[in-house]
Amino acid sequence: MNKLAPALLLLAFLASHAQTTRTLQVDNLFSAPEWATISTLSPLPPLPVDATNKYRDSPAAALLGQKLFFDPRLSGPIQAGTPKEGQLGAVGEAGKIACRNCHMPESKWLFDTRSNAQSSNPGGAIPNATALGSQWMTRNASSLVNTVFYLNRSGAHWRENDGYSDSEWFDAQSEPEGPPVQNGSRLQLAHVIFEHYRADYNRAFPEWPLNSALADYKRFPATGSPYTDKANWDGLSAADKEMVNRVLANYGKAIEAYLRKLVSRNAPFDRYVAGRRDAISADAKQGLKLFVGKAGCVRCHSGPNFSDDDFHVIGLKIDTGRSPHADPAEPGRSANQALICDPATAGGDFSVNGHFSDDPATKRNGDFCTQKIAAGLWRTKGLRQVAETAPYFRSGQAATLEDVIEFYDRGGDSEGTFQGGPKEIQPLHLSAQEKQQLKEFLKTLTGDPVPAQYLRDLHSR
Ligand code: HEC
Ligand code: HEC
Repeated sequence: MNKLAPALLLLAFLASHAQTTRTLQVDNLFSAPEWATISTLSPLPPLPVDATNKYRDSPAAALLGQKLFFDPRLSGPIQAGTPKEGQLGAVGEAGKIACRNCHMPESKWLFDTRSNAQSSNPGGAIPNATALGSQWMTRNASSLVNTVFYLNRSGAHWRENDGYSDSEWFDAQSEPEGPPVQNGSRLQLAHVIFEHYRADYNRAFPEWPLNSALADYKRFPATGSPYTDKANWDGLSAADKEMVNRVLANYGKAIEAYLRKLVSRNAPFDRYVAGRRDAISADAKQGLKLFVGKAGCVRCHSGPNFSDDDFHVIGLKIDTGRSPHADPAEPGRSANQALICDPATAGGDFSVNGHFSDDPATKRNGDFCTQKIAAGLWRTKGLRQVAETAPYFRSGQAATLEDVIEFYDRGGDSEGTFQGGPKEIQPLHLSAQEKQQLKEFLKTLTGDPVPAQYLRDLHSR
């Protein structure tokens, strides 16, 4: 483009804008302001930089992460659940649950089609399932595709529906030890990595070669963490704890490098915004107009991941009749402030300002640690691939997109049935046709599949 062209375009834009902002400028349907909003939703940008993990784009780290993602040996004893519910072994058995069992490559978008798969519920498989790990979890296992794009306008990277962690690596390192998730421990993890992935690990983290003392089970017991088999953990010297914690942090960083490969671009919606006017149907275009207009969805589902990575009260009633393992008393975001902010907690050490961070001076969490956080705030979910990842909302309360749209149309559930302050949404009064159009639009957000090479189980046997 020559130097004048942008100025001329701007003039032309201003001239037409001056006539009336209501003039339909794009595809005979969208005004200039509407199109300007739509243009902020596509395409997906390059991967966000996470300076707190300097290994984020290391191929060796990503390969190690991929192997570990599929390795069930990181998990501890199963505590509940039956084979009929999709449990992966008998109560008491260890070594059965890998990341891949809840974020399943078989399901294409790495969400859960196992837990409760044999439910007798007439809605079919997993109508409102939460995830079955070592125990039932209170939430359903979300898709992991494109989660690296969750990015708050202040630069923070909040993870999970309740903002449990402030980076992808902090999030990943917490999963093996979560009692309802894998119920393992960091000592167990360090042993598995030492015994099965020593060369991969040393390649990925050349500054931190594994210490061969990890072969000594007297000095490093088989299991133990600040939470499970605590006596074993407490028996370690400070230096040995530090060594094991470093392995745990690096484990998280390797997983982050892998999660950065789980990306899907080029949805029909993206092709439409790029100029292919026939890439989405007439109904989907009307749905898009509602999404950025009358239905107000874009207030929260903003940016190319369709999430502001921020926290809102939408007034969702958690009905345990539908999702029997969900917990209506969960407060959401407010529960995690201490975990992330307090350097004295084991969590704080792994936060972006903690001592395992590669950019501990980062200010990306803003004033999070000094805020007063109300109950009932939950993170806006991204909407890419949404048509293929039912059930919806954090606990699977909505079995279908129709249910979700009905929820928003009625302005959420009634006060008193959810934890939290005033709702941020109002009844929409959409017609049946408009509801259908909104759904058609959501169906245009499904992009290309993740490259098959990243869905292969390469874990060492
Ligand atoms: C027992 C099932 C289960 C297993 C095993 C499991 N997860 Fe999850 N995962 C979940 C659930 C449930 C959530 C949603 C929690 C929430 O966001 O409220 C989740 C959320 C996540 C998220 C957050 C995505 C986002 O939206 O920000 C990441 C990242 C993640 N898991 C990675 C992993 C990794 C890596 C492993 C293996 C180390 C793993 N998970 C193992 C159930 C599981
Ligand atoms: C005030 C902010 C806000 C507005 C406005 C909003 N949403 Fe949401 N949306 C959220 C939050 C927060 C969640 C996650 C809630 C939870 O699971 O607890 C969510 C979840 C969803 C989900 C579930 C995704 C999944 O994978 O589970 C869909 C679908 C969705 N919204 C669609 C819409 C549509 C369509 C509109 C417009 C009619 C809309 N949202 C308006 C904040 C908002």
